[in-house]
Amino acid sequence: MLILALATAAALQTVPPGESPVDPYVESNANAHAEPFTGTAMLMAFHGRAGIDRIADDLVDRNLRDKRIKEIFDKQDIVRLRRVLKLQFCYILNGGCDYSGRTMKDAHRDLGIQTADMGALVENLQAAMRAEKVPFFAQNRFLAKLAPMKRDILQEHKGRRRTPTE
Ligand code: HEM
Repeated sequence: MLILALATAAALQTVPPGESPVDPYVESNANAHAEPFTGTAMLMAFHGRAGIDRIADDLVDRNLRDKRIKEIFDKQDIVRLRRVLKLQFCYILNGGCDYSGRTMKDAHRDLGIQTADMGALVENLQAAMRAEKVPFFAQNRFLAKLAPMKRDILQEHKGRRRTPTE
């Protein structure tokens, strides 16, 4: 059954322009690892889809400039990361998107992400939300939704990080 699902997924997954192919996986909103907010308050606090896109792009830009973690993003598919991160944020904030990316565990497998790396990324996300003037209460509600994902993202006991050529 899983093989059939993966074969179907592989057949359906086209690679958008500018992106590299990834191993086949089954698309599901469950891969986003968070129940979306209900209602429109959070979406409005983030200034709609346009605000979400600005925040996700700003977050990626800050990560790529951040001496503490930029090496982890080196040689990864940043075009795909931007696209899929926007969908994940939009899905969680009830912005009318479906999440089509991988699970958090699969996306971060073997990257060797440590607690300090997560701290750096959260600081960058806070800065991106501040720059978009997202109210403080909404920033905190969003961060609380993301917090449980760290179980699937962190690999405290694995030292080495993969690059796409490995
Ligand atoms: C709650 C925190 C985080 C969220 C919500 C998140 C979300 C995502 C998403 C949606 C993807 C793309 C999945 C896909 O391609 O299908 C991704 C990939 C990636 N993330 Fe994260 N992430 C988080 C934390 C981190 C941290 C702390 C780092 C490193 C400091 C990191 C580094 C990466 C890298 C390098 C990729 C690309 C991997 C690849 O293309 O193979 N992420 N993340």
